[in-house]
Amino acid sequence: MNTFYVTTPIYYANSLPHLGHLYTMIVGDTIARAKRQRGIDTYFLTGTDEHGINIERAAQKAGRTPKEQADYVVRYYKIMTSEFGLDTEHGGYDIFMRTTEPFHYEGVSELWRRLSKAKTPKGNDAIYKGHYEGWFCAACAEYKTEDEYQKPKNEGDPPTCIIHDTPLDRVSEESYFFRLSDYDEALMSVFESRPDFVRPEYRRNEVLSFVRGGLQDLSVSRLKTSVSWGVPVPDDPAHTMYVWFEALTNYITAIGFGNETRQKAVGFEKFWPALHLVGKDILRFHAVYWPAFLLAAGIELPRAIVAHGMWLDANGRKMSKTLGNVIELDILHKYFSNDAIRYFCLREMVFGQDGRFGYEGLIDRANSDLASGWGNLSSRTLTMIARYCDSRIPSGLIPEDKLLLAKRTGVDTDETTVAGFIEHARDQFVQHFDSLAFSKALETAWSVVARVDKMITDAKPWDLAKDENQKQTLGVVLYRAAESLRWLSVLLYPVMPEASRAIWKQLRLDGSPAQIDPAQLKWGELKEGSTIGDVQQVFPRMDKTKIMSEINSVDSVPSAVAPAAPESTAPVVHATQADAVGVTSFIEIDDFAKVDLRVGQVLSAERVPKADKLLLLKVDLGEEQPRQILAGIAQYYEPEKLIGRKVVIVANLKPRKLRGFESQGMVVAASYGEEGRPVIATFTEDVPNGARLK
Ligand code: MSP
Repeated sequence: MNTFYVTTPIYYANSLPHLGHLYTMIVGDTIARAKRQRGIDTYFLTGTDEHGINIERAAQKAGRTPKEQADYVVRYYKIMTSEFGLDTEHGGYDIFMRTTEPFHYEGVSELWRRLSKAKTPKGNDAIYKGHYEGWFCAACAEYKTEDEYQKPKNEGDPPTCIIHDTPLDRVSEESYFFRLSDYDEALMSVFESRPDFVRPEYRRNEVLSFVRGGLQDLSVSRLKTSVSWGVPVPDDPAHTMYVWFEALTNYITAIGFGNETRQKAVGFEKFWPALHLVGKDILRFHAVYWPAFLLAAGIELPRAIVAHGMWLDANGRKMSKTLGNVIELDILHKYFSNDAIRYFCLREMVFGQDGRFGYEGLIDRANSDLASGWGNLSSRTLTMIARYCDSRIPSGLIPEDKLLLAKRTGVDTDETTVAGFIEHARDQFVQHFDSLAFSKALETAWSVVARVDKMITDAKPWDLAKDENQKQTLGVVLYRAAESLRWLSVLLYPVMPEASRAIWKQLRLDGSPAQIDPAQLKWGELKEGSTIGDVQQVFPRMDKTKIMSEINSVDSVPSAVAPAAPESTAPVVHATQADAVGVTSFIEIDDFAKVDLRVGQVLSAERVPKADKLLLLKVDLGEEQPRQILAGIAQYYEPEKLIGRKVVIVANLKPRKLRGFESQGMVVAASYGEEGRPVIATFTEDVPNGARLK
């Protein structure tokens, strides 16, 4: 019984990871760490959902096979999980599940076979063959009913998805159906007998009203001729499985359902059932379809399905590339510690509700709660132990003959007061944590920080240190503070593993906060006389003005994705905003070496008559003669302002004539926004003309 299984959704492999994906992984990781800390054998799954028409289309657009597309996106997920400390190496997930794994094919085929033999609670075949007629949204991977789409403006056009605003696909074909309509009563009785099955309660109510509204049978296959990128239906290879049917099943195939090797390596019976963490947008699939499939197959239902809200921007708007309000993972990683990001995510979002995420808010919290809060408590306590107690943990007890003296300074001589307070806070913290109320749990931990901080400020150790008679009183204050730090490191380890370990190390404690069950903490176990380590700031203060001005000056940080091919005929190389779809294919280093990129300096610049977009530049590449180069940037750059500027030139581009002028190279620029605004690449350090870029 002492096992636990927690899952995040598996993310579509059609586009690169973003904050929403990072968030669920952080929550899953935090839960897994908390369970492991208590000695529970825990399995944490995350991964990618790699089949279906959407991935097929993204791949096609990028000139890749669907598997290449998935591999490409997975590489970015792996980079993300490593950078943010969420992979196995950093004590995070146990499996990065991929639905293209052969064992998944085996497991999901086994589930299909079981369902095709199963009878519904009303005595019908659970799966039957029929004909599907309707509209399908590729991005949602979902069939849409009339109230779920936007009718077209022009007759004859397809309707559009309300969520994605993209045209729906007309589907009219033979299909296997899952007889979902026969599972309404069975599902209702699960929801009623297990009120905690779907959480939080208001989301559970949404699910209940959906089921009460009547369930339609679900089309669970597509013809291979329409969707070829999927798992073939057993014994009928003309069909591929509906991607949600197959994707949901990953939660059991990952731990060994339908595959001996996985079963031996992990163990289905050992870990199932799981706690599924999902976004509210995909709750229906997890809380209705998935339990119905499992009921049909006679498999135990999940432990619970917990839906979180969405991250909105600081003004409460949905995040989107077009609005330019997306939180970039590159920026998060560059400016913020993993612990600060984790803390913010868990503190700021009341679990279940939508939350607001802005860089400024993140800096504010990092400064007030971490740098000035927990971090400051730690550094001031340890610095004073170093200074006043010769770096040794003082005694936590006041000798009888000093009690009166201590009392006079206002220090509580009853040790059990502070111990009682922190024990109570620990119990509350654990309770909130177990009900996934992370924000409340953290508030409770911060009540400890505030209390201990106040104890120090009231006792004024710096004054006590001046009086030899108050040595023990001083020691007691510092002991209590240090002991509280030990407790806080254990409590906060699942949320902020790096900082907890760092404070643990500074206290020179044995073992690791990762292995201590908070319930086992006992006040007073911090050993008197032990030496502390070097004192370091765990959360340095962030300079808000400086960081915000740096963040605002980069419209978007391009990640290490190769630039897309030039989009226009204008002689500017566009390094377009990185996205998975824009990249056509990988190149070898030798291919890159074919491009001769050189540093140049603009000697003159003028407009080209009758060409609004073009500037005629003379650029010094350190050659005998300056080059004449045309650049399609006239709408964005005043010619005079370019003179003297260092630029990057593609020097070995075949010369071509434009508007009667020969262009002997190209200027390299980034391009962003919908109109493709160019921003010329330049250098912040001195570099001679003609230097090669490699
Ligand atoms: N592939 C399916 C899930 C299959 S699970 C068997 C899928 N993938 S997804 O990549 O589109 O989304 C994965 C998760 O990211 C969802 O839980 C979704 O709620 C979450 N988020 C996407 N944007 C988000 C925010 N802005 N904020 C928080 N989470 C968000 O759906």
